[in-house]
Amino acid sequence: MKVLPLFLMIGCASEADRAQAILDLTGDPAAGETTYTQQCSACHAADGTGGTGPSLVAAYAEG
Ligand code: HEC
Repeated sequence: MKVLPLFLMIGCASEADRAQAILDLTGDPAAGETTYTQQCSACHAADGTGGTGPSLVAAYAEG
């Protein structure tokens, strides 16, 4: 049970500490691409230009 202490730490931490814990996470673009392809591309298209769902490229460009 290596992960349990981490959950306990997050559970007991203040809101700012929990926010910092999230900010300290590092991204994994390759894993994100896999998730996007599996979960999102059916509606938003493989390149994000939209289909059933709106274009995410346009949403990103608008900021
Ligand atoms: C079943 C189709 C479908 C799937 C799957 C889907 N979406 Fe969407 N998404 C939509 C629709 C439809 C909207 C527009 C909703 C609205 O305007 O009320 C939307 C809106 C959005 C928006 C807001 C865009 C804007 O211009 O405001 C984002 C961001 C988004 N989706 C991201 C994702 C992500 C990330 C995933 C995968 C984890 C995903 N979507 C999966 C259909 C889908």
